[in-house]
Amino acid sequence: MAAIPKEKPSRTDEARAEFARYKADVKARGKPFYPYAMFHDTIMSVFVVVVIVSLAVIWKWTAFGPHHDPLHKGLLGGEVAQPADPGTTSFVPRPDWYFYFLFYLLRIFKWPESVFLGTIGIPTIALVLLIMLPFLDRRRVRRPSARPVAMVAAVLTIISMGVLTWKGATAKEALASEIKQDIPNWVKAEHLPPGALPGARLFASAGCTNCHTYNGAGGSQLGAPDLTAIGTRNLGVPTQIRHLQNPGSVTPGSPMPSFASLGPQRLRQLAVFLEASKGGK
Ligand code: HEC
Repeated sequence: MAAIPKEKPSRTDEARAEFARYKADVKARGKPFYPYAMFHDTIMSVFVVVVIVSLAVIWKWTAFGPHHDPLHKGLLGGEVAQPADPGTTSFVPRPDWYFYFLFYLLRIFKWPESVFLGTIGIPTIALVLLIMLPFLDRRRVRRPSARPVAMVAAVLTIISMGVLTWKGATAKEALASEIKQDIPNWVKAEHLPPGALPGARLFASAGCTNCHTYNGAGGSQLGAPDLTAIGTRNLGVPTQIRHLQNPGSVTPGSPMPSFASLGPQRLRQLAVFLEASKGGK
């Protein structure tokens, strides 16, 4: 009678055998959570708390000196930062350093074509891949030299985040000049007549885009509306000028500052530009 040929063990059998070996190993040589792991965790937690408390003590002792100056900088920064000024027109918002890479990503991906891809698409794909990793890579080897794809991906991620952080940190706050470079796009998207160009240049340089967005450029502050299609409301040049001179007289309680100091000629140019901005319609 022929012997039953020995079948090659399947991958599942192999994994089960490995799991059984692992369990036996834990039983034979493992250490119980209490007190071993708990001891380690306790030491580490105490260490972290001590570091935080020490930093707080150093900050307080060096910042709150006898000088009673709230803006005095201690070793770890001042007691308080500059008071916020909600009416500022020259403030350039910048994120904390650990968001510089995201901040710079937003400069690479231009509104509106690729912003969705850059801010939601790619991070989501990366996250899904990360969650799926244990299911995709089920080999038991952990040696870095045996995992070239994972290692290259990890190193590339670290390098690109480092480069993006550095680029974000050194990025010129060329808000006004950046926005000026956008003017040709505005002309195309909005079909601006040549007569609206001086106003467009003023709009880009006078600080309007600190608060208002226009064709995807600029910032949103104080609830200032997007002005891409302000011209479709046909408010009229005189009303626009009146609003720029004294926003509160047109919109009671408006937090927008007066731009009367630009003078009547430039206010008219701005108003012509605003009225010509019909959002491409
Ligand atoms: C400090 C922030 C800020 C700045 C700078 C600013 N605005 Fe405004 N703007 C606002 C706010 C808030 C409103 C909404 C209240 C109102 O209508 O006055 C507004 C409203 C407007 C409106 C009316 C929109 C509507 O729907 O009626 C126009 C037009 C306008 N701004 C143009 C400009 C122009 C042009 C500049 C630059 C010369 C400028 N703004 C600078 C905050 C600002």
